[in-house]
Order: sequence, then structure tokens, then C-alpha cells
Amino acid sequence: MKTTAEKPFLRVLRGEALETPPIWIMRQAGRYLPEYRALREKQPDFLKFCYTPEMTVEATLQPIRRYGFDASILFSDILVIPDALGQKVWFEGGVGPKLEPVTSAATLISDPAEAVDGLLAPVMETVRQLRAALPPEVALIGFAGAPWTVASYMVEGGSSRDFSKLKQLAYACPDDFQGIIDRLVETTIVYLCRQVDAGADVLQLFDTWAGILPPAEFRKWSIEPTRRICEGVRSEHPDIPIIGFPRDAGLMLGEYAEKTGVTAVSIDTSTPLGAAADLVKGRPVQGNLDPIHLISGGEALDRAVDEVLEAGKGRPHIFNLGHGILPPTPPENVQRMIDRVRNVG
Ligand code: CP3
Repeated sequence: MKTTAEKPFLRVLRGEALETPPIWIMRQAGRYLPEYRALREKQPDFLKFCYTPEMTVEATLQPIRRYGFDASILFSDILVIPDALGQKVWFEGGVGPKLEPVTSAATLISDPAEAVDGLLAPVMETVRQLRAALPPEVALIGFAGAPWTVASYMVEGGSSRDFSKLKQLAYACPDDFQGIIDRLVETTIVYLCRQVDAGADVLQLFDTWAGILPPAEFRKWSIEPTRRICEGVRSEHPDIPIIGFPRDAGLMLGEYAEKTGVTAVSIDTSTPLGAAADLVKGRPVQGNLDPIHLISGGEALDRAVDEVLEAGKGRPHIFNLGHGILPPTPPENVQRMIDRVRNVG
């Protein structure tokens, strides 16, 4: 029997440089797949979908069956945390997430275990079923949003163009904002520990909006909460690899890696992978093909894949995108990318 330590994805996270990098892609289960669209039709309410293990297990496995990725990612969403904290959250088709905005932690559930063990129990059931269903060589990634990014949706009440409400709260009422961040840190630690207990091999923290912060605020609202989460999770699970994705962190990547203590860093599209690897001092890097190349396809895609492979050569590198795959992506372009990375076809 293979031990989990032999999974190529986990070998790279322990610092090995492999001849062929392991590959998975962010948002690999999603609307670009016809089988996902068919499954979603059975449950049009996205949050209900996220809380139905029968649906989430199938959605997670779809891209593994079709492409044989080296890692699977639990199908869920970063906004289940505000939902579990008692904030009103809903998804409107074509508009994205909507939330009843908050300006402090006053209305949020204060006991992290109560929040996680209530509404989020089906997430742990999904992880347990996946653990049993996945081929032994495929790693299982659990995840959460980083507090800054989750707070952005909680304060703005959804997606935003300039994050003016969020930043004004953080800059002008730092104590109130800290209350929200503290609640998210505590809840996220419990949530991620439960995912590891249920069978996740690796965790990823998505800080999609980290890059909108100036340096001092980046330290306070991206690095520090992420550091606390890594510390809290590792006090229960000392060896669990944690991948951080501080999107658009740019020159702050080095400080982010060093101070948070993440095991590896996922790199966005606009940052050169080699320079990022130097900044994070040899920690494993993940990334960073432009997801638009997967829509355009053709020889431009091949060249872009080669460029990422070249930049990752000789380093611990996990092949991925610089951000999530987009709904208009032709599935055959994903196969073309995988074949090129694995040097087949
Ligand atoms: O395959 C996977 O990667 C696992 C599942 C996953 C989803 N969301 C499913 C989803 C993961 C890891 C996420 C993370 C997530 N969710 C992030 C961070 C990563 C990133 O992409 O920046 C963020 C910011 C969210 C919040 C969110 N969820 C938004 C803004 C939206 C709407 C935008 C959109 O693409 O429609 C969602 C909905 C969502 N989450 C979908 C999926 C597959 C689409 C919903 C649908 O099926 O209609």
C-alpha cells in the first residue's frame, strides 16, 4: 500500500524538485465542465449545493476522473464561513455573492466550535467521503479564505470594484475591524483543523484581495491573521502543509512567506515565477499560467505552458494557474495543457 507521503504533490511540498511537476488548477471543479453544469442544475441554490455531500463529492471528483490531476480540492466556497457565523449570504446567478454587510463582529456567532460544528458539518462529511473515494496517489486539499479576503465580502456585502467601504473600516475603525478579523481567525483555525481530522492532506488559504493593501496594512491584515491561523492549525497538526495564495502581493511575497510560516506560496499571473521563488527563499511555489491562455488555446498556450515549466525547473514547483479557471474555457484546452506539462500526446 502506498503511504500518503509518496504522493508527488506532497513530495514537492516537502521541498523536492520533480522532473515533471504535479498539476492541479484552481477552481478545477466548475462551470467550464459540462458535467458540473448538469450537476448544478439539480440544485440551483449554490449554498445548498455546498452543504450536500452527495453533490460536493461528485463535483470534486469530476475533474479528477476527466483529467487525472495530482490533487483534488474539496468542493465548497470561502463564503461558508460568514454563513456559519450567522451573516446572511446568498448567491445570485450572474451577479455573484451577496451578503448583508457588517461593520463589527457584534452580530456574529462568537463560539467558533458552535459555528463550525453546526452548519459546516456536511463539509467534513464531504472530506471523509472523498478520502475514501480518491485514488491513493491523489492528494486532497482542504481550504478556507484568508480573513482579509473573507472580511472584504462581509463588509462590502459582495464583490467590489475599489473596496472603499472595507478599507475605510480597516483604516478608520481598526478596533471594530480587528474584531471581525479575530472572529475569522478563530473560526478558520477550528474549520481547518476539522478538515484535517476528516482527511485533508494539505490546506490552502485563499487571500484573493491581499494585493490591494499598502505594505503596513498588508502586514496587519494579511500577514498577521495568516500567521495566527498557521500557528493555530499547527498546534494541533504540526506537520500539515499549508499553501498561501496572497494574490498580487508582489514585493511583499518574501515577507509574507517568512512571517506567516506557510509551507508554500501560490503565485499569481503577473508575478514572474522564478523571481517569486527567490523572494520566498526556496519554499515550494505553485502557479502561475494565465487562465486566459486556457481560453485562447493553440500555440500561444503551448508557449505559455513552456515558460512556466522553464521557470519552475529545478525547483519544488506545482503547476497551476495564476488564478481560477474561467467558465468560457474549452475543456480540451485543459487537456492540451496537461499533456504538455506531462510531456505526452
Ligand atoms: O474547484 C475548486 O477550486 C473548489 C471550489 C471553490 C469554489 N470557490 C467554488 C465556486 C473554491 C476553492 C472557491 C474559492 C473562492 N470563492 C474564492 C477564492 C479563490 C478565487 O477564485 O479568488 C473566492 C473569492 C470565492 C467567492 C466566490 N464564490 C465568488 C466571487 C463567486 C462568484 C463568482 C463566480 O465565479 O461565479 C463564487 C461562486 C463559486 N464558488 C462558483 C464555484 C464553482 C460558481 C458558482 C456556480 O456554480 O454557479
